[in-house]
Amino acid sequence: MTFNELARKRYSCRKLATKPVEQEKLDAVIEAGILAPTAVNKQPFRIWVAKSPDALKAIHDVTPFTFGAGVFLIVGAKREEAWVRPADKANFADVDATIVATHMMLAIEDQGLATTWVGHFDAPKLQELIPELAGYDLVAIFPVGYADSAAKPSPLHAIRKSVSELVATI
Ligand SMILES: Cc1cc2nc3c(=O)[nH]c(=O)nc-3n(C[C@H](O)[C@H](O)[C@H](O)COP(=O)(O)O)c2cc1C
Repeated sequence: MTFNELARKRYSCRKLATKPVEQEKLDAVIEAGILAPTAVNKQPFRIWVAKSPDALKAIHDVTPFTFGAGVFLIVGAKREEAWVRPADKANFADVDATIVATHMMLAIEDQGLATTWVGHFDAPKLQELIPELAGYDLVAIFPVGYADSAAKPSPLHAIRKSVSELVATI
């Protein structure tokens, strides 16, 4: 499969099967995240594998977007560890963690698994429930699993703006 075939195949899967995810597959997804580039190679991110009953309950308490997953990957950015661009003091922590998360999202697809990037959750509450997450910008929660046989892309999946709207040659 070419990279664009993989990118085209991926969609936000909102119905996951009960089949458990093998540890080797999670390891491959995590490796893809760690292989991501970061500004000045600062690697100002953390990945948490949430699968304990307490962690699963906490995630269910802070978002409805759980889709039947038995395991979740959470990605966070540590601002204090990131490169800061001198010209405008822009902190690259969230940029770096988002690249990591994007690698992971596509690796999940590459492993034959399915997910949705979940950004809609109560981050402060999650950090209260799981204190280890405090001090990080939480950029993504990935519910991870096998796509249910009834899963299908939402209508939004098919909608992309045109090249002429999105790309300019200057
Ligand atoms: C940063 C980010 C945050 C998102 N947050 C959520 C979310 O909280 N819940 C959800 O159901 N989908 C979420 N999505 C999925 C988007 O709605 C989805 O990617 C978009 O509609 C395009 O559909 P597709 O992924 O199937 O191509 C998020 C996607 C991104 C990139």
